[in-house]
Amino acid sequence: MLSASITVDPAFVVGPVRRRTFGSFVEHLGRCVYSGIHDPGHPSADADGFRGDVVDLTRELGVSTVRYPGGNFVSGYRWEDAIGPVDQRPRRLDLAWHSTEPNLVGVDEFMRWAAKAGVEPMMAVNLGTRGVQEALDLLEYCNVPGGTAWSDKRRANGAEDPYRVKMWCLGNELDGPWQVGHKSAHEYGRLAAETARAMRMLDPDLELVACGSSGSGMPTFGEWERVVLTEAYEHVDHVSAHAYYWEEDGDLASFLASAIDMDHFIESVAATADAVRAAGKHTKRINISFDEWNVWYQKRAESQSPSGDDWPVAPVLLEDKYNVADAVVVGNLLISLLRNTDRVHAASLAQLVNVIAPIMTEPGGRAWRQTIFHPFALTARHAAGDVLRLAVDSPVQPTAKFGDVPVLDAVATHDPETGDLLILAVNRSVTDGVVLEVDLRGFPGLRLVEALTLANPDHTWSATADDATSVLPRTNTTAKVADDHARTELPPVSWTLVRLAHP
Ligand code: AHR
Repeated sequence: MLSASITVDPAFVVGPVRRRTFGSFVEHLGRCVYSGIHDPGHPSADADGFRGDVVDLTRELGVSTVRYPGGNFVSGYRWEDAIGPVDQRPRRLDLAWHSTEPNLVGVDEFMRWAAKAGVEPMMAVNLGTRGVQEALDLLEYCNVPGGTAWSDKRRANGAEDPYRVKMWCLGNELDGPWQVGHKSAHEYGRLAAETARAMRMLDPDLELVACGSSGSGMPTFGEWERVVLTEAYEHVDHVSAHAYYWEEDGDLASFLASAIDMDHFIESVAATADAVRAAGKHTKRINISFDEWNVWYQKRAESQSPSGDDWPVAPVLLEDKYNVADAVVVGNLLISLLRNTDRVHAASLAQLVNVIAPIMTEPGGRAWRQTIFHPFALTARHAAGDVLRLAVDSPVQPTAKFGDVPVLDAVATHDPETGDLLILAVNRSVTDGVVLEVDLRGFPGLRLVEALTLANPDHTWSATADDATSVLPRTNTTAKVADDHARTELPPVSWTLVRLAHP
């Protein structure tokens, strides 16, 4: 066994736990919408065709915001196609995913689903093939109470009250050459600034997200953010970050250290935003909306889009099967997002159902939780109050991608109202368990409420419809608290949650 220690002190506050850190994402991609959230033939479907079992799992996951309708899809989307009588809606080619979009679900259906699932909608506008006017039309449709052409159309379509959507993404990944309507940083920065300025003229209270880079490995990373923010700084509130981890390269130690890359990504974007702030003599700070993040095996067959004359509706796409190691990484990426709560003000696990997702469904059949569901749901349920910076002392493990990496990574949250303390920790060692000692001297008298660990001797175990419960977070019986000191053993490749409270 290796040994590691952390010291927790209530004075080391990074910032608040933000509910929006626990956002997710629904894109018209593969089976995320059709046979994911929407499946009229399913026994649990409501009058709109939304699956009740998926709504229940979404609530259990603890999702706060849901970004919609894309993703790459939004860059060719005509939102007006998907309002009004369903049988009169056109079918369109979706160039992003080489699919056919039947437009059975549009903005009104999504808003009804969001209300059912208890989530805040976060809309994206199309700045790939469209521009300022179409963004304004959609905003008018969603947020103006009535008495105008688009708002009255919404009322005629059954939504008397405006949706009052607060958070809007100004396009999606327009730095990517794969994007319909891909742009240079200068072109996009101007368009984002003009769209944001016009949207705020309609509704000054919006929170607007400019597109950052679609990955820290993009050749334009850094410079893209600098140029876009130089154009749009005063008009936006957040810049986005997108990151997907892991490929089939057999390097487990580097994969387990993915949060190092996320930390670096966040620091770099924050530093760039602050440099633009200084150069432009701005006073406000731009924060980060990490609105696409997850593990994604992009080279696998299920991530390859259809081609040629094949333009299917809702094909099986990006249906990654997540194993225990993937769940440990997802738990660690959440630790990174929380640790950076001073700059990351929103985040979206991409995506919610079937497409690189914590929730899987069979068309008309069963729904189940993937391994990554559990660290997300437990963190969303129990993180509260302030995020605390920790003093960590950990042995290291060599990795090919990041050099020597601490095997222990951890964060804590402390709720000053209840006094509850939450510790989230991962053991990234491929081979060794870790004895974790926690110095609680800043929190006299706390007792252990529960300690749960997700691990398995075979870290490649994945959930299926037939067996989604053999490996779940289980009570960690090694966890003990005495004399303002906690101790627990963390198996190799594991994620652990420890809850402490006053007696
Ligand atoms: O989430 C899958 C895709 O990844 C999204 O459509 C796109 O924005 C990103 O490249």
